[in-house]
Amino acid sequence: MALISNDIQIAIKQLNADKVIGLPTETVYGLAGNALKSNVAARIFEIKNRPSFDPLIVHLSSVDEVEKYTQNAEIDLMKLFKSFSPGPITILLPKKNIIPDIITSGLERVALRIPNHPLALELLQKISFPLAAPSANPFGYVSPTSAQHVENQLGKKIEYILDGGQCTVGVESTIVGFENEKPIVYRLGGLEIEKIEKEIGKVEIRQSSSKPSAPGMLINHYAPKKKVIIGNIDQLLVESKSKKIGIISYYKNYKLNNELHLSKNQNLTEAAQNIFSYLRILDNSDVDFIITELLPEVGLGRAINDRLRRAGA
Ligand code: TXA
Ligand code: MG
Repeated sequence: MALISNDIQIAIKQLNADKVIGLPTETVYGLAGNALKSNVAARIFEIKNRPSFDPLIVHLSSVDEVEKYTQNAEIDLMKLFKSFSPGPITILLPKKNIIPDIITSGLERVALRIPNHPLALELLQKISFPLAAPSANPFGYVSPTSAQHVENQLGKKIEYILDGGQCTVGVESTIVGFENEKPIVYRLGGLEIEKIEKEIGKVEIRQSSSKPSAPGMLINHYAPKKKVIIGNIDQLLVESKSKKIGIISYYKNYKLNNELHLSKNQNLTEAAQNIFSYLRILDNSDVDFIITELLPEVGLGRAINDRLRRAGA
């Protein structure tokens, strides 16, 4: 069992001792350690059971720190980063040598982000190094949105989880980078595409799953152990009558057993906050499988649908 509390001093002590801790952010909880030390990064990969080809995001306390770790930043990318940081945006920039190769899995670019969470920001300001932090779940599983989620799966492997409450965004950050002077979104996430395009114009979305540039796009990522079937809930209910099913609904509350309704008023922000915890609840229940439906393909609905499709793949 890990200690769970909101004591920044304990977090600082652990991190200064090269330990890895649970870290709250506005998107999902991270598994954080000193990003400038290869041995700490190696421990993160080990705890998460993450393949070494899947690089880690480096968390900073402010935009001013970007130059310390990267070079040749595209003007538009920095504009975007400044507009939405701290917040659910991660940018890819050519790294300087101070960032160990293990962090980027040997890639030239490093992923940077400034989490919009008061405890995480205070912590980052008080330590003298940036934090490498993937989502604090075993590789391939649903991301954690509470300290308890982290404890449930990784509590035996870490000593401390900094408790920052429920995540307010609920899905991971949007990852953006440039290739041949064109903006590309590698992962749909907590920052809506519409907001990005308002700032820098049309972006390409790489939905492809085999690109090593963002292995988080692996098709079977974010998946619960139980089978997830996506479709028309009314129809799926008829077809699965004799089975014990879990339901994650959005448009309508069927008021059935084992049904979790994403949002009373069809609010995408609320749906994003709930999606991962609902998948976890049903995955840990005795239902045979989970049925769900796609949300509107706009705003946060796109990121949620992306996660649902992967959960159902
Ligand atoms: O919201 C988030 O981004 C959360 C919180 C904890 O900050 N973190 C997160 O990390 O989701 P992770 O490791 O679960 O997902 C990061 C994704 C991975 O798919 C990884 O492949 C991609 O970012 N990534 C990291 N560094 C990269 C790089 N240098 N080039 C391309 N993709 C990278
Ligand atoms: Mg992850």
